[in-house]
Amino acid sequence: MFSDKDIAHFSKLETPFYYYDLNLLEQTLNACKDAARAHQFHVHYAMKANFNEMVLSKIKAIGFGADCVSGNEVKKAIDIGFVKDKVVFAGVGKSDREIIDALERDIFCFNVESLQELEVINALAEARQKIVKVAIRINPNVDAHTHANITTGLDENKFGINSWDMPACAAILNLSPNLEFIGIHFHIGSQITNLEVYKNLCNRVNEFSAWFEDHGFKVRILNVGGGLGIDYHNPHQQIPDFATYFKVFSDFLEVKPYQEVHFELGRALVGQSASLISRVLYVKNGKKKNFIVLDAGMTELMRPALYQAYHLIENLSGNERSMPHPQGTVNYDVVGPICESTDCFGKEIPLPESFRNDLIAIRSAGAYGEVMASHYNLREGVKSYSKEV
Ligand code: LLP
Repeated sequence: MFSDKDIAHFSKLETPFYYYDLNLLEQTLNACKDAARAHQFHVHYAMKANFNEMVLSKIKAIGFGADCVSGNEVKKAIDIGFVKDKVVFAGVGKSDREIIDALERDIFCFNVESLQELEVINALAEARQKIVKVAIRINPNVDAHTHANITTGLDENKFGINSWDMPACAAILNLSPNLEFIGIHFHIGSQITNLEVYKNLCNRVNEFSAWFEDHGFKVRILNVGGGLGIDYHNPHQQIPDFATYFKVFSDFLEVKPYQEVHFELGRALVGQSASLISRVLYVKNGKKKNFIVLDAGMTELMRPALYQAYHLIENLSGNERSMPHPQGTVNYDVVGPICESTDCFGKEIPLPESFRNDLIAIRSAGAYGEVMASHYNLREGVKSYSKEV
């Protein structure tokens, strides 16, 4: 919900821009921290969801670690002050340069995603006389029941090492003096709303943990990834139910006294804390369709174009009208200015009758929003502001 003060503030700013509610972010982070602490679980923030510095500073201050998927994310996490001992580096295609940089920064752990990568890290570590901590990212073949494009834990996905390669993996680890095996890592997908999925994941984690222990490896870290979804239809109900989520793992994961359980949450921590604020450039009422053309497009928020993702759209100027539309609302296709038909934020969206210059909010845009912006069509690049508190 935006206050009149927020809306008055927006009307002075050039659109489009991301608008962060850092109070809400802090409340969300605290809720997660408290819920995790109840089980002695450790949280690493999945930086890919949002690396805006205002956001990162809050997350660092709360004491979470950082889950990174590129050399630049590792660098940024450390530059901004995340403790090295809490920085992990995952990713299916780490380049030699990225591995060397992370080795030299003495991060906590590499989450390794292929047999070949194990050999490469060992060789690069040997050349620098370093012993590197590694966790094996295993593809558990568990269906996350989410959008196919954000499913990562099935046999057909590129991520992780498949179960049938575990004996080869163990053999490489035994032959690699510069690798220190510390645990196993999983991440099966994103925007997961059916928590049953995590029970299935826990069962698989238990099996793989037992397998490694039976083969002489001490599994100290059980990293179960992230993926907890948010309610895009209801951005007003803003803080995810972390307690219920963590309880699933507490109930179904077999954790030995010397084992730590790690999580890598992204979306659930930051998703509700930002909106994309835009203006109506043009209204086109046709015979079959009514369009409102915004000054924000897929270049600012790509999720609807890429995954047909739903984001709640609000006309913030609508309430101020002295003469509401006789029928109350009009169904609009809400589109952007980019020369692509997929540049559409939503079809047949009921909104109050809308006019040029109306302010439009696209909600729940804090995760995978600003970070996935592009310069396609030689667009400017999107700005961001935070709520004045
Ligand atoms: N850990 C790993 C290894 C990951 O690949 C991801 C997300 C996460 C943790 C965090 O997942 P989360 O808690 O945020 O669901 N661009 C897509 C989402 C891609 C997710 C990529 N990996 C979207 O806009 O929906």
